[in-house]
Amino acid sequence: MTAPGRFRFPDGFHWGAATSAQQIEGAVRKDGRGESVWDHFASVPGNIADRSDPSIACDHFHRWRDDLAVMSEIGLTAYRFSIAWPRVMPHGFGSVNPRGLAFYDRLVDGLLAAGITPFVTLNHWDTPQTLQERGGWVSRDTAHAFEEYAVAVAERLGDRVRHWITHNEPWCQSTLGHEQGRHAPGHRDPGEALAVAHHLLLSHGWAARSIRQRSPAAQVGITHILVDVQPASASDADRDAARALDGTFNRWYLDPIFRGAYPQDVIDDRVRCGHLATAELPFLQAGDMATIATPIDFLGVNYYSRSVVRAGDDGRPVGVPMASPEQRTATGWEVWPQGLHDVLTRVAREYAPTALYVTENGAAFDDRVEPSGRVVDERRIEYLRGHLDAAGRAIAAGVPLAGYFVWSLLDNWEWADGYEKRFGIVRVDYPTQRRTLKDSAHWYRTAIAARGLPDDAGAPSRAGRE
Ligand code: FCB
Repeated sequence: MTAPGRFRFPDGFHWGAATSAQQIEGAVRKDGRGESVWDHFASVPGNIADRSDPSIACDHFHRWRDDLAVMSEIGLTAYRFSIAWPRVMPHGFGSVNPRGLAFYDRLVDGLLAAGITPFVTLNHWDTPQTLQERGGWVSRDTAHAFEEYAVAVAERLGDRVRHWITHNEPWCQSTLGHEQGRHAPGHRDPGEALAVAHHLLLSHGWAARSIRQRSPAAQVGITHILVDVQPASASDADRDAARALDGTFNRWYLDPIFRGAYPQDVIDDRVRCGHLATAELPFLQAGDMATIATPIDFLGVNYYSRSVVRAGDDGRPVGVPMASPEQRTATGWEVWPQGLHDVLTRVAREYAPTALYVTENGAAFDDRVEPSGRVVDERRIEYLRGHLDAAGRAIAAGVPLAGYFVWSLLDNWEWADGYEKRFGIVRVDYPTQRRTLKDSAHWYRTAIAARGLPDDAGAPSRAGRE
C-alpha cells in the first residue's frame, strides 16, 4: 500500500463521479423523448429483478440542479454523464428534438458555472427502440445513425464540452445484450454479438472524426470495461483458459482501437466453437479497421473486479470463485483493488494510450441507514480507498492516468438488477427522492481536498459537515 497520506495525485487530476442517463434521469416520456431499448426491455415481465422500470429513477431530469449542488458539496472537479440518444433523436436518426438537446445544454452550462468539467458519454446503452426494430447494432445502419447523432450533439455542445466518450463498455452491449440475453435487447446469439461489437467500434471511429471536425479542441475517447484475468493454476490448460477470456473480454476491444486488428487467437477460438463459420469476419468491410484505429486522445477504463479462471472440460474458461462472502460486494463481485493497478499498468505497457481515465469504479453494498439519517457505508470507503491507492501506485509507476470517476454519484436504476443494488456515494430515497451524502461521499470529499488518501482509515470526522 502507498503510505497513507503521502501520495499526492498530480495537479489537474480530475476527481469525478459518473452516472448514465437511463439510470438516473427518469422523465422517459417528457419533452418528446423517444423509447429506448431499456424502456422496452424493462416492460417485459421477468427481465428486471425487482420488476421495476426506469421511468422515474432518480428524477434527475427535474432535479439536476439539486444534484449539481451535491456535486459541489463533495468538491467534484469533473462529472461524467451520458446523453440519452432517444431524448435527442427520438427515433435514433432523422429529426433532432430541440427540447431534448436543451436539457443537456442547461446541464453543461450549470456544470461549467460550478467549475466542474463535463465528460460526456454519447452511448451508455439506451439505443432508440425504433432503431432496434430495424436491426439495432447488428445492422451497420445503426453505426451510421450513431454518427449522425454524435454530430447533432457535438454541434450543440462542442463549444463547451471538451471531453467526449463515444461508447460505454461495448463488451456489455455486445455480450450481455446479444450473447447472454441478460441486458437489452435480450438476444442470445454469439454471431450477432460479434457484429454488434464491430459496429460499435466502427461507429466510434466515425464519430471521433466527426466530433473533432465540429470541435477542434475536443478530446475524444472510448470507455472499455476491463477485467483482471488470472489463471487458477500454472497448468497449460488453465493458462490457455485465461488467454481465451482475456481475449474475448479485453483484447477484442483494445486491439482494434490501438492496433487496427482483431486478435487472431480469439478469431480461431470462435471458429473452433462455431460462433464464426470461417476466419473471415462476415461484417468486416474494407477500411473498417483503419477507421476503428483512428487515434484517440484517451482511453476510459471501467474496473470493478478480477476473474480467476480454470479450463472447463471443453477447455473453455470457467470462473473459479476466490473470495469469501465478506470479500464480495452486494453484486457478488470480489473486491480486488490490485487488479486496477495491474490493468492500468498492463494497458499502458501494451497499448501506450496518450492518457487514461478510470471512468468507473465503485461498489454496491447494503448500506446502513441510522435513525438520524446518516448512511454508514464503511465497506464502500474501504473499497474506494483501496482502489484509489491502486490508481496512485499506477501513476507512480508511470501510467498517464489523468482522472478517476466513482461509480456512482447517486444510487440508481442498476439495469436488470433494478433499484436493489445501490452503487451511489449519495443515497437516494426513492419515495421522497431525498438525497443524502453517505459517509463515503464525505470521505471522498476529504480525499479530493487533500488530493490524496485521507490519513484515517475510516470515515472522516463529521465536524463541519452539516
Ligand atoms: C457498468 C456500467 C454502469 C453500471 C456499473 C455498475 O458496467 O457501465 O452503468 O451498471 O457497471
